Amino acid sequence: MQTIPANLPLKKILISGEQITRRVGELGAQISKDYHGKTPLFLCILRGSALFYAELVKNITTDCHLDFMCLCSYSGTSSGGKVRMMLDSREDIKNRHVIIVEDIIDTGTTAKYITELLATRGPASVEICTLLDKPSNREVEIKPRYSGFTIENEFVVGYGLDYNELYRNLPFIGVFDESKQ
Ligand code: IMP
Ligand code: MG
Repeated sequence: MQTIPANLPLKKILISGEQITRRVGELGAQISKDYHGKTPLFLCILRGSALFYAELVKNITTDCHLDFMCLCSYSGTSSGGKVRMMLDSREDIKNRHVIIVEDIIDTGTTAKYITELLATRGPASVEICTLLDKPSNREVEIKPRYSGFTIENEFVVGYGLDYNELYRNLPFIGVFDESKQ
């Protein structure tokens, strides 16, 4: 069992780096099988999914393309409710198979925004692959095709996920403790 470094405001480590690596390997194998011969486009939703994305695409064994989009919606531990696009993707997705790679689906607002936006661009298909899913906090109907872990309605940080832009670099996922801030 990994111990929490004393300087970090965490209640506990929820998912270890080893657990993440194992699960991402499984997701990569499943996606490679499902998209064999389709040359999917993996769309990284920055900044939260950067670490997950890098690990996921290393586990893809079929030909694929990589692209990036930067969105922003959260501040502190609550959803701002309004999604803003900071950087759009570059690839033309017409008739292509797109896999949106997200860090976490919480209310579902961000995922809904991206899927509706991409739908206007004529893709062959659009699916979501998320590292974490918090279905108990859903406000809009969104079901990811691929999900690493389903978690309770707790605020988590690490492995790309932040609290006010901190803790994205942690190699595991921990439950944030606001009282230790
Ligand atoms: P949604 O739009 O409410 O589904 O939220 C999606 C975005 O909110 C994610 O891409 C994260 O950036 C952020 N978010 C939601 N829950 C958490 C959390 O527990 N920790 C850190 N960020 C979160
Ligand atoms: Mg965030």
